[in-house]
Amino acid sequence: MTKEERSLKKVFVSHDEILEICRAMGEAISRDYQDYDQPVLMIGLLKGCHPFMSDLLKHIDLLMELDYMDVSSFFGGTKSAGEVQIIKDLQTQVDGRDIIIVEDVVDSGRTIKKVIDLLKFRGAKSVEVATLIDKPGGRKVELVPKYIGRELPDEFLLGYGLDYKEMYRDLNCIGVPFDHLIEENDE
Ligand code: IMP
Ligand code: MG
Repeated sequence: MTKEERSLKKVFVSHDEILEICRAMGEAISRDYQDYDQPVLMIGLLKGCHPFMSDLLKHIDLLMELDYMDVSSFFGGTKSAGEVQIIKDLQTQVDGRDIIIVEDVVDSGRTIKKVIDLLKFRGAKSVEVATLIDKPGGRKVELVPKYIGRELPDEFLLGYGLDYKEMYRDLNCIGVPFDHLIEENDE
């Protein structure tokens, strides 16, 4: 039995599907930004962006500048806490830049909205969102990511960057965890 089989009771997006999503999204980004006269700044939201962003970049045929932010809204459980905290800020000046934010999942949209507002406040020229998973059913703010890998129902998911208490990010697919892995008072 693999770690994926031991962790997930239902797989929503297989590893092959994720790689296909990365290929299609990478091609779309390459097309959309090919005539821009400055390199796009790709900002990954740690730590969930990591597996997705590294696969996505392999399919973008443009030179990109990379930076990372760590913002937290979950505080370890399975429900977004509403408040968003900046744990690690950018090292790049964003003034006048074209930016793509890379996220593993957009749920309420609060985290990404807060980051978009901050980047615009700092003078970013354009800000788009590329997310592997979108859960529009959980949305609490108005936000439609430009690049969406897969829309899924508003369930708690794990794998390929998505974590529960910093675990399961390393699963090679995305799905719903077995109930016994999630503590009852976190549901
Ligand atoms: P939002 O602010 O509600 O959109 O939440 C975004 C953040 O919450 C993501 O960056 C994830 O870290 C986390 N998150 C949202 N849904 C899930 C999930 O189903 N599993 C694991 N983490 C999630
Ligand atoms: Mg996260």
